[in-house]
Amino acid sequence: MPTNFEILPSNQPIADEIRDSILKNPGFGKHFTDHMAHVRWTVDADWHGHQVRPYGPLTLDPAASVLHYGQEIFEGIKAYRHADGSIWTFRPEKNAERFRRSARRLALPELSDEDFIGSLKALLAQDHAWVPTPASASDECSLYLRPFMIASEAFLGVRPAHEVDYYVIASPAAAYFKGGVAPVSIWLSSNYKRAAAGGTGFAKCGGNYAASLAAQKEAEAHQCGQVAFLDAAENKWVEELGGMNLFFVFKDGRLVTPRLTDTILEGVTRNSVLTLAKDEGLTPEERAISIDEWREGAASGEITEVFACGTAAVITPVGELVTENERIKLAAGGNNEIAMRIRTKLLDLQYGRSEDKYGWLTQL
Ligand code: COI
Repeated sequence: MPTNFEILPSNQPIADEIRDSILKNPGFGKHFTDHMAHVRWTVDADWHGHQVRPYGPLTLDPAASVLHYGQEIFEGIKAYRHADGSIWTFRPEKNAERFRRSARRLALPELSDEDFIGSLKALLAQDHAWVPTPASASDECSLYLRPFMIASEAFLGVRPAHEVDYYVIASPAAAYFKGGVAPVSIWLSSNYKRAAAGGTGFAKCGGNYAASLAAQKEAEAHQCGQVAFLDAAENKWVEELGGMNLFFVFKDGRLVTPRLTDTILEGVTRNSVLTLAKDEGLTPEERAISIDEWREGAASGEITEVFACGTAAVITPVGELVTENERIKLAAGGNNEIAMRIRTKLLDLQYGRSEDKYGWLTQL
């Protein structure tokens, strides 16, 4: 356990039998553990006051800048229980690095790997009983960890805050989509864009997700589970979904994903899929892919599968792309064999069922 976190244990932890019933059917993002980690930053004293304390509402001044100007960033990372009961997380240094990239863009202070990974370890030392045990190899239950940083200084002038708070909360999680790994329908947003060059698209900040919600509402009105965004400049290039990256499987074995630009979030799952795909004999390609290539490739059978990936969603096949006047489905129906193979490979690694040959796991 990291020594620099002061532990203030909850005197009202959730009863064991209630926790166990939550863990049997956690859903996604609805239930929270007994504690949260907290570290404070001030312009004069840097990071200090490392604590794990009872989970509960925050006291925030109504003038806190995060409430007015949205100076906020977050991460998503999971804790997995292995068959021997031990608890592991996946590539946390990648999340820590991205958190610092996001911090720089949002003019927030940077948190070290030591504090980022230390906060996960300190929280898990208290709340380890909240990490679910998978019932089978296809069970993707985990404890979803949500580190986030907010500008908490009470000040209405527009400038980077001088007081900032970092927290980690944790939420037991099953599949992100209600249908589990069933193919999801995607709505193509024509009215809205997620990000533009020079903006915050590559950063994991609340504003990007807030900006996706009107489009997500449209998606839901069309019975779609997620929304896909095209680029803002030409309305032509596929970027990403509201909260996931996209991959296209070509019949000749190429696996294409939009190349990283400052309008695309670099997913840790995206990066891992690019590596695992090579082991599967696929040829990964990071390049621009247009909506016409998607449309034509799906119709001709050149593209055999499309899938979304992210920490929350793992790997989820895309069944169809829906617009106002068309439904772009894969010509052959798509058996999603490649997506499911990579998904199994990733989950086997994360749950310790296969060799961690890339050294991606860190014990919590
Ligand atoms: C994640 O995959 O961790 C995200 O932050 C995306 C969100 C849709 C839950």
